[in-house]
Amino acid sequence: MASRSMISSATTGTAITGSGVWHPAHVLTNAELCDAFNEFIRREIARTGRTDLKESTPEFIEKASGIKARYVEDKSGLLDPERMCPNIPDRPEEQLSVQAEYAVNAAKIALAQAGRTGEDVDLVVLGASNLQRLYPALAIEVQDAIGARGYGFDISLGCSAATGAAIMASQALRVGQATCALVVVPELTTGHMNWRERDSHFIFGDASVALVIERTERAHPGSWEILSTQMLSKWSNNIRNNQGYLTRCDPTTEHDVDKLFHQRGRSVFKDVVPMAAKFISDHVAAYGLQPSQVSRYWLHQANQSMNELIAKRVLGREATREEAPLILDEYGNTASAGSLIAFAKHQEDLATNAYGVMASFGAGYSLGSLLLRRT
Ligand code: COA
Repeated sequence: MASRSMISSATTGTAITGSGVWHPAHVLTNAELCDAFNEFIRREIARTGRTDLKESTPEFIEKASGIKARYVEDKSGLLDPERMCPNIPDRPEEQLSVQAEYAVNAAKIALAQAGRTGEDVDLVVLGASNLQRLYPALAIEVQDAIGARGYGFDISLGCSAATGAAIMASQALRVGQATCALVVVPELTTGHMNWRERDSHFIFGDASVALVIERTERAHPGSWEILSTQMLSKWSNNIRNNQGYLTRCDPTTEHDVDKLFHQRGRSVFKDVVPMAAKFISDHVAAYGLQPSQVSRYWLHQANQSMNELIAKRVLGREATREEAPLILDEYGNTASAGSLIAFAKHQEDLATNAYGVMASFGAGYSLGSLLLRRT
């Protein structure tokens, strides 16, 4: 066991002073999802005569992923076997865009928890695996909607967009570029999925999460001091979405399914488990902590077995559900929002001076972690 004196006293001098989670109202269960998918498959077989198409089952989904249901922006399009895509009406440019609205909904909850208002905020960092447009930055629209000052920007980093955004915000505070940062993670993921593909139609759900980050001298007791942060990336084609502004420029490929989320799920599993376990272990060790001295691991929420294996490798034994909480049974994979939602929903019970690690891993590959201590 490491002695107390070996633990680092380093800190970023910043703290998470508020968090908030919001999700759309509609729940989509595995059974409902499979009913629509299987009807689509039967119609495809009748239409094309293909013999390679197979139906999906709720049992497989829960066993392979741990996901029981997810929240979705729209059910009507997803449950229509002729459509298999959410119906999300385009909005006029004068109206708040749907992804900015997701961000604002979570931001209001996080600001209230921090005891701050929109006017207190002077930096908005928006991170999401999918951004609904290229410009103007969604963060600037959120900044305007909540009446914030200062500046805002979006970051894109697959499932590490949220931890990346939190780390960018902490760094900006540290160098004195801002005093009260709002991190918003509007993950409207159902728009990027291929609902006609059996291997992945069950993975994602929609949700939004926000954090308020301030310098520690402004933080109230019970806030989470950010002691240190870590980021890593390593190129991989195993999780990819090729949708972009050049999509329309090649009429022979513009409607191909590679313009939606696709992955080699088995390879991701095999690559990411050891990579994430080492990444987290190294972060904890660099601070002079034993893994068991960390009370909670808020991990990215893609797959239950993946999380259990990563936590087991870090701790050298099975983790309890308290040590590594899961939210994916209820929410599905909410892309980069997962580890932040796990944090927001499972941190209240921890005592002063408890350590926690928030960690993400996903497309890129990209990884990010924040070592936290409760004040
Ligand atoms: N319903 C029923 N059976 C299904 C099915 C479905 N929806 N999808 C696949 N199957 C079958 C396959 O045909 C295969 O059958 P076979 O063994 O007879 O060939 C079997 O189930 C296993 O399929 P596989 O795709 O290898 O499943 P898996 O155990 O690897 O689980 C994932 C799939 C996606 C849940 C898993 O690979 C995973 O979570 N990977 C991590 C990556 C991730 O989630 N990334 C998200 C982005 S961060």
